[in-house]
Amino acid sequence: MRLQGKTILVTAAGQGIGRACALAMAREGATVWATDLKQELLNAYAGVPNIKTHLLDVLKTAEVDTFAKKIGNIDVLFNCAGFVHQGDIMQVSDADWDFSMDLNVKSMYRTIRAFLPGMLEQGKGSVINMASAASNIKGAPNRVIYGASKAAVIGLTRALAADYVARGVRFNAICPGTIESPSLGERIQAVSSQTGKSVSEVRDMFVARQPIGRIGKPEEIAQLAVYLASDESSFTTGTSQIIDGGWSL
Ligand SMILES: NC(=O)c1ccc[n+]([C@@H]2O[C@H](COP(=O)([O-])OP(=O)(O)OC[C@H]3O[C@@H](n4cnc5c(N)ncnc54)[C@H](O)[C@@H]3O)[C@@H](O)[C@H]2O)c1
Repeated sequence: MRLQGKTILVTAAGQGIGRACALAMAREGATVWATDLKQELLNAYAGVPNIKTHLLDVLKTAEVDTFAKKIGNIDVLFNCAGFVHQGDIMQVSDADWDFSMDLNVKSMYRTIRAFLPGMLEQGKGSVINMASAASNIKGAPNRVIYGASKAAVIGLTRALAADYVARGVRFNAICPGTIESPSLGERIQAVSSQTGKSVSEVRDMFVARQPIGRIGKPEEIAQLAVYLASDESSFTTGTSQIIDGGWSL
């Protein structure tokens, strides 16, 4: 019951890391607003204790603001939404660039502006932003937009931490390596189609780049998210927590 009494909003909680984090936070006693773009994914939360669901497209400022007014103050905001664009700079279109920056970075600007005033009113809050080890931490091939966007998340997190450190609101970024998720399955499938290698060969390539010898589990990220959401991390702000099986060593 490490999060008992806290109200937490998780974006992109429909699947993958977001879902594992929402479930772990609810198990620790928080009231969790699990939000996502896709209703069918939210339906899978039916009957899960401590979880409320709501459709929320973090690309839409008005939707975020309306939702903030509806639910009122929260204690923890976990910005998990993000998209992995694959390709080098010559394969990127303006539209690809704008979409990834909007979803991976500007969405956080939207949600933080909507929920920070309530946290400041309470004199307390924790904001967790999903970055990646593929950022300023590690240059990963074919991740030019993704790496730039996730480095921006880390910069955003540190700047916000500096602005609000004396007012009780903490900001930290999570920087995973490769983690099992539906979108990882899609990326493996896409690389397999592009290269002609079998799906299992491509999966083995993803595993081979992990010094720890395996891909991470969403539940392992959830343990870190629970810690950053809880008062156990009350002296921790402005950090980029690397959790990548040694990928960036
Ligand atoms: N899986 C990995 O290997 C990995 C590694 C490092 C960082 N991350 C980051 O973790 C986060 C989650 O990734 P994942 O792979 O676990 O999940 P995923 O990509 O499989 O799922 C993403 C979820 O986001 C939702 N979504 C998409 N657009 C949205 C929008 N506009 N508004 C609200 N929700 C939206 C989707 O419906 C889906 O449920 C992302 O920010 C990703 O960049 C993932």
